Amino acid sequence: MAAKNINILGTGAYVPERVLTNEDLEKIVDTSSTWIMERTGIRERRIAAPDEDIVTMGVAAARLALAAAGLEARQLSYIILATNSPNYLYPAAAIRVQDALGLNGVIGAFDLQAGCCGFNYALYVAERLVAQEGKYALVIGSDANSRFTDWTNRSTCILFGDGAGAVVVGPAQKGRIVTSFIASSLNMNLHCETEFNQEVSPFLPPQTHTERHFLTMDGPEVFKFAVGAVKESIRRIMETTQLNREDLDFLILHQANWRILDAGARFAKVPMEKVFVNVDRYGNTSAASVPIALHEAVQEGKIKEGDKVLLVSFGAGATWGAALIEWGK
Ligand code: ACO
Repeated sequence: MAAKNINILGTGAYVPERVLTNEDLEKIVDTSSTWIMERTGIRERRIAAPDEDIVTMGVAAARLALAAAGLEARQLSYIILATNSPNYLYPAAAIRVQDALGLNGVIGAFDLQAGCCGFNYALYVAERLVAQEGKYALVIGSDANSRFTDWTNRSTCILFGDGAGAVVVGPAQKGRIVTSFIASSLNMNLHCETEFNQEVSPFLPPQTHTERHFLTMDGPEVFKFAVGAVKESIRRIMETTQLNREDLDFLILHQANWRILDAGARFAKVPMEKVFVNVDRYGNTSAASVPIALHEAVQEGKIKEGDKVLLVSFGAGATWGAALIEWGK
């Protein structure tokens, strides 16, 4: 039977052990720790080990989320994994997570690609799936950005890091996902082309450059888009719910740049104490950013039962979206 209230029931996160500091980056590209800190707020980020990928990181985060929700993997009906850095185009990473959790053949699992807004997109889909059917879904955001980073480009390689976050979504005794939306509009200022065998295809002109499969970004343009997307998301959620900005208890914004977090908080008229910040430690972990931040905020006791928590993200696509959660436990 379909349940009335759907909520996030448990959170989990995983970041690789290896830390890459700004000082380390000074040895790789022409940059300075001070410049990175001042322009982005990032001090260090994590880099996946050679034997780690979006699946191993996603599984680690998922196990924690399941434990926090008090559920066994076999109680899940769906796995949705948001990523921008798959090491296989197919099969879907979500199915590899399904396999690792011992759920082959019994549930449906699929990947979702929506830039750094992927987690918000996946949450949006999961909420609607489980609301219809009264079931449980695992929602994962996992990205190994270091694999798609051009480590000779100082404009981009300083920004990104690796990690995974996960939540379990399902019928809830307390709290609910109050409202959510997703939006998109074509914008090529942040893109990553697929690497394929152009040089050996008899049907295509020869490949002229090899760096195209790296993440490519016009930073200042993306910055302007990001600040606008955060403002629009906050405005839209406030209009839909008829809440005032003062009613927001906690803001989880996509951790891309401290200056974007600051602009979002100012617009929402929310003091920085109510805005979670871990961009200094992890940089931009793309689809993993919001669920890692949410998990850490919960772990640190910053989110309490009944709090109105706003999750906002934006990313390549361009994509943006938000979810207002009345926290349940
Ligand atoms: N170290 C030192 N100098 C640098 C570096 C660096 N790592 N990178 C760029 N510079 C230089 C530039 O070459 C430029 O020099 P010039 O003026 O001599 O040409 C100068 O610094 C200023 O460069 P800008 O790119 O204009 O610097 P800006 O203040 O805009 O900061 C940044 C750049 C940090 C990339 C910023 O634009 C930004 O954060 N943009 C948004 C990025 C983002 O959020 N991306 C992801 C969002 S979506 C998603 O998450 C997938």
